[in-house]
Amino acid sequence: MGRLGLGIAVGCAAASCAIAAVMVGRRVRSRKRWWRVVRALDEFEEAAATPVGRLRQVVDAMAVEMHAGLASEGGSKLKMLLTFVDNLPDGSENGIYYALHVGGTNFRILRIQLGGQRSILGHDVERKPIPQLLMTSTSEEFFDFIALSLKEFVEKGNDLQLAQVRGKDLGFTFSFPVKQTSVSSGTLIKWTKGFAIEDMVEKDVVQCLQEALSRRGLDMNVAALVNDSVGTLAVGHFLDKDTVAAVVIGTGTNACYLERADAVIKCQGLLTTSGGVVINMEWGNFWSSHLPRTSYDIDLDAESQNPNEQGFEKMISGMYLGDIVRRVIFRLSLESDIFGALSSKLSTRFNLSTPLMAAMHEDDSPDLKEVAKILEETLDIHDVPLKVRKIMVRICDVVTRRAARLVAAGIVGILKKTGRDGTGGITSGRVKGVKSGKMRRTVVAVEGGLYTSYTIFREYLNEAVAEILGEEIAPYVILKMMEDGSGIGAAMLAASNSARSVDTVQVL
Ligand code: BGC
Repeated sequence: MGRLGLGIAVGCAAASCAIAAVMVGRRVRSRKRWWRVVRALDEFEEAAATPVGRLRQVVDAMAVEMHAGLASEGGSKLKMLLTFVDNLPDGSENGIYYALHVGGTNFRILRIQLGGQRSILGHDVERKPIPQLLMTSTSEEFFDFIALSLKEFVEKGNDLQLAQVRGKDLGFTFSFPVKQTSVSSGTLIKWTKGFAIEDMVEKDVVQCLQEALSRRGLDMNVAALVNDSVGTLAVGHFLDKDTVAAVVIGTGTNACYLERADAVIKCQGLLTTSGGVVINMEWGNFWSSHLPRTSYDIDLDAESQNPNEQGFEKMISGMYLGDIVRRVIFRLSLESDIFGALSSKLSTRFNLSTPLMAAMHEDDSPDLKEVAKILEETLDIHDVPLKVRKIMVRICDVVTRRAARLVAAGIVGILKKTGRDGTGGITSGRVKGVKSGKMRRTVVAVEGGLYTSYTIFREYLNEAVAEILGEEIAPYVILKMMEDGSGIGAAMLAASNSARSVDTVQVL
């Protein structure tokens, strides 16, 4: 080999060594980045963990806070609001009733025909998205939109014209915290779920609606103002008299239940004909140090419209779950290149909705095609390898499992407060119930897209309720799915309240 040949050979060897060194360096760096991802995921999973021991602490905290909220005004983050509903529909209601449901991204109008004997003879529903702009407009614009939509719905009805609905009773489901002053009046305490019509706060919502109806020439009478959880309880009770509590897990979350009137200590002199009263817990605002909070929850709360409020809701409900997942992938993208170059769409709040998150979670195709498609179309993240798509599914699973299990703990908290969990309530740790033959069949009505349309969520929730209660007590507790329950329930409450001439709930 001549000098030239030797030179070339040495040069080539040096070049290959350099390339090899670069490649090894890259591999080491990429492995390091991968380990960073694995570590971040493990940390997230650990912080969001909900072993049954922790869930039991949440159960106890919920029951204790319920007591505190009933004992005094402002005694707890749980508002435990009096609804003035003491008699739930019993199936004997008759006639045609209308209902409006305002509360999430969609607004619903319903007409139902009740036939007595627990029968619903007819049921029409129309859903309309609420224009984003109206959610932050003025109360007049907002209620004009609602009144106009109701008028159009009535006019479209086959047999009923405007004149024929004159004086008809209307149930109004308004799914925000309201301080009720009677079964058909109440003032808005605060907005949640992204609504912010400032001039509405502390106004009587029924008066606003009633005025808008008159402006549109609709002579209808709001006979019941109800929270969506109360509507769900009403329809649950109409269908099954053992229904004593209801939970909503949709855009927001909440629960209500039937309480003994004498347990509402903050309302001294509360008299009801039945001896019971429905309490709207507003559990979205529940808080306890036992909740498994992660750094992502802290950031989400800090950047929200209502920091330090609705803490439970922000870990559970449809408005937020997709955004928690987005925050986790955003952080992983900052720490590694597993999602390719950083996508600007990832840094925008609410860019990943909960329904899309659920679709990724439930993708059962072998190559996770749906996950790839959603990442591409929604977040502008392309060509993600299968192992990274699997990571996506894992993140969705952690977020959803935690949410569902926390709802389960909340439900068992209500059962504990009302002595239906087999432990004898919060003042005693002794297990009685089944052993002393005292367990009663208990039905909890559940409404909201996360429960009705997201199968994995529903399965996690049902499983966790059984796990917390244990196999002896669990068979006595039945979770019943209600679709459109809150609206139908409001119409039923309008029916049962219009039949009465006097208020059955009085605060002396
Ligand atoms: C509201 C509740 C409502 C729940 C479910 C929460 O944000 O505060 O009043 O029941 O969402 O719609």
